[in-house]
Amino acid sequence: MVALQQSQQTLTSDFFLEHLHKVAYRVEEALETILPPPTSRLQEAMRYSVLGGGKRLRSFLVWESCQLFGAPLTDALHTAAAVELIQAYSLVHDDLPCMDNADLRRGKPSCHKAFGEATATLVGDALIPLAFQTLSSLEASPGVRLTLIDRLSHTIGSEGLVAGQMRDLGQEKSCQTEEDIRELHRLKTGFFFAFASESGAILGKASLQEREALRKYGFLFGQAFQMIDDLLDGCGNQEAMGKPVCQDSSKLTFFSLLGPDLLYKKAEIIVQKALEVLSPFQERAALLKEAALYVLTRKR
Ligand code: IPE
Ligand code: IPE
Ligand code: MG
Ligand code: MG
Ligand code: MG
Repeated sequence: MVALQQSQQTLTSDFFLEHLHKVAYRVEEALETILPPPTSRLQEAMRYSVLGGGKRLRSFLVWESCQLFGAPLTDALHTAAAVELIQAYSLVHDDLPCMDNADLRRGKPSCHKAFGEATATLVGDALIPLAFQTLSSLEASPGVRLTLIDRLSHTIGSEGLVAGQMRDLGQEKSCQTEEDIRELHRLKTGFFFAFASESGAILGKASLQEREALRKYGFLFGQAFQMIDDLLDGCGNQEAMGKPVCQDSSKLTFFSLLGPDLLYKKAEIIVQKALEVLSPFQERAALLKEAALYVLTRKR
C-alpha cells in the first residue's frame, strides 16, 4: 500500500478533477431531461438510481473522446447520458440480493433497499431501453446512430458485461488463474469503458485506426479500473467508497491472488500502456491521460 499512498500524493490532478466535475454536471443536466418525470413509483426509483451520484468516469471518456474528434456537443452529452443509464442499470442489478447483495450504493441505500427487489429489477429493465432510445434520438446520421447502438448492444450483452457478471457470480467457468481474472475484468468492465472511449471516435467520424486506439485505451483503462476496484474492496473504506467493502472476500480476485502491492504495480503497468496508446494524439489527449492516472489514485 506504500506505492498507492505515494501516488495519491503525487498524481491526483486538480485540473483533471475540475474537468471531471464540469462534465459530470452537464451530464447530470442531460439525464434530468432524459429521465421521465417521477409520476410513478418506477420512475421515482429510476431517478433515485441514476441522479445525484457516481463519479461519471465513463461519461468523461465519452466527452473527451468526442472533444478529440470534434464530435457535436449535444450528441456527446446524450451519448454520455446513455452510458450512465446503462451504468446505473448494471449497478442496481449488481447490488440485488441474488447478485452481490449490497445494501449501499453511491453513499445511499441501494435501489432494492429503498424500493424493494421487484422494483429494482424493473428499474434495470426500464433503464436499458431508455439508453438505446437516447442513442436512437441523437442528431448524428442514421449510420452513426446504428453503429453506436450496435456497439453498445454487443458491449453489454451475453458476450460482454452480462457474461462477465455470470462468471463473477460463479455461474460459469470459475476463475482459477490470473488470466481467468483478466478475462472476467475484460468482460464485466473493460468492454464498457472501451465503448465509452470509442464512442467519441464513432461520433467524430475518426479513422478506423484512431477508433481502434481509443478502444484499446478504454480496455486498458477498464482493466486498471477493475483491478483498483478489487484493491479498494480489499482495503478501501466504505464511507469513502459509498459502497460495502470486503464483498469479494470469498472470490479469487487480483487482491487475493497478488496482494495489494503487486496488484498496484501491475495496475501501474497497464495505465502506462494506456498512456502509450494515446501518444499519437499528443497534448490533445492530455485529459484522457490524466483520467487514466486518476484510476491509480482513486479512493472511491
Ligand atoms: C462500479 O463502477 C462498477 C465497477 C466496474 C467496479 P464505478 O466505480 O465507476 O461506479 P460509479 O458510477 O462511480 O458509482
Ligand atoms: C460490477 O463489479 C461490475 C458491473 C458490471 C456492474 P463489482 O461488483 O466489483 O462492482 P461494485 O464493487 O459493486 O461497484
Ligand atoms: Mg459484482
Ligand atoms: Mg458489486
Ligand atoms: Mg467491486
